[in-house]
Amino acid sequence: MARQHDAADLVELGKRHLLHPHVRLADFETTGPTVVVEGEGAVLRDTEGREYLDGLAGLWLANSGYSREEIARAAYEQMKTLSYYTLFWGWSNPPAIRLAARLAELAPPGLNRVFFTSGGSEANETSIKIARLFWEGMGRPEKDLVVTFQQAYHGVSYGAMTATGLETVWRGFSPFSEGFVRVPPPYGYRCPHGKDACDASCADALAEAFEAIGPQRVAAFLAEPIMGVGGVIVPPPGYFQRVREICGQYEVLWIADEVITGFGRTGTWFGVEHWGAIPDLISFAKGVTSGYAPLGGTLVHDRVYEGLKRVENVFNHGFTYTGHPVSCAVGLKNLEIMEREKLPERAAGLGKTLEARLRAIDSPHVGEVRGMGLLWGVELVADRATRALPDPVTIGWDVQARCRQRGVLVRGLFPGNIVALAPPLVVTEAQLDRIVSVLADSIAEAFRQAKPA
Ligand SMILES: Cc1ncc(COP(=O)(O)O)c(C=O)c1O
Repeated sequence: MARQHDAADLVELGKRHLLHPHVRLADFETTGPTVVVEGEGAVLRDTEGREYLDGLAGLWLANSGYSREEIARAAYEQMKTLSYYTLFWGWSNPPAIRLAARLAELAPPGLNRVFFTSGGSEANETSIKIARLFWEGMGRPEKDLVVTFQQAYHGVSYGAMTATGLETVWRGFSPFSEGFVRVPPPYGYRCPHGKDACDASCADALAEAFEAIGPQRVAAFLAEPIMGVGGVIVPPPGYFQRVREICGQYEVLWIADEVITGFGRTGTWFGVEHWGAIPDLISFAKGVTSGYAPLGGTLVHDRVYEGLKRVENVFNHGFTYTGHPVSCAVGLKNLEIMEREKLPERAAGLGKTLEARLRAIDSPHVGEVRGMGLLWGVELVADRATRALPDPVTIGWDVQARCRQRGVLVRGLFPGNIVALAPPLVVTEAQLDRIVSVLADSIAEAFRQAKPA
């Protein structure tokens, strides 16, 4: 894989010209970037020749692994045949149509129409706008509020950011969009409803929230099947079945944000399949192309589509890159590979191995291990019995840094004591063993050397 790069030049140019998400800009002028040049399977390499075993699949998305020639060829063939044309005003292209049809086959029954975007934030914007437009079409435009979870992450564009329940994402960016109400998530380990044993009654709390807001005002409930960035929070069995009933009862559209959980990540094509409940809209992105090209979108249930058809105006929503033929061709090839190599099933099988290895970590500081398929979170605590937060609570970011020094990439999550794992679905068992052993060593070292805040 090795190739020569003028690393020092790249770092200097990067410091001078490239703005990065999630770095403190003043510090970055000193530290500069780590420049990644190659990837293969679950392994990345930087300009210094250092290798990283990627325990987070980039940003939870490299499901089919890095740098497959077959996908590169699909992009190449599409680029030299038709590089771009719009989907506006009824124009179309073969990959967009074929991918929409394939997604309708893979999705739960009834979700038969697809609107394409460039990523997850735009997908959520689209889902929210479709939900509001649906109620407009149904003659009930006063139903315009969107209910989301505290702690959830839905993206950074204004609507998606306001839907997001993490203070750190909003800071400095007010004024925000209007029309969002946040409710506590189904976080069994630290139950916001004060239950000692989880009984899924948190779904009933959602009904109470609809009552309190006034259901005649609520357009949609937007939630991830498993919260990713917000702490890898897995709702209890029965939760989304109950959500489905409640949303039906209060005439609220249920939008599942499957940006992380879609496309095999949790061991099924879509995360909601674990609950056997069918949403009205699904936002997707990331794994649809495994990151080979930017692509996202919204899957629309037939009953929502019927409401949209009643709207007099044209469907006034579209991005320049909606249905981009190259991204869609890449998506088709990626899904073909995922199906051929049975990657969702592989995630389900390897997920059991990963779960067993994580549960076997011998540390009094591992409070909870939770997840599904190849999406896992390890919540770190000061003491397992009391579940007290560690001091400092940000120790998960320290663990992340120590893992990185040992050549393994994992991610600390807000408020800093949760470590996330979501390797590519092509990861091997030996690689999983290494990820967990490095994680265990890093946790032990971080707690040994912790300096209380
Ligand atoms: C659940 C969820 N929704 C939406 C987004 C936003 O996607 P994007 O960064 O592609 O805009 C993310 C990104 O991590 C996400 O995890």
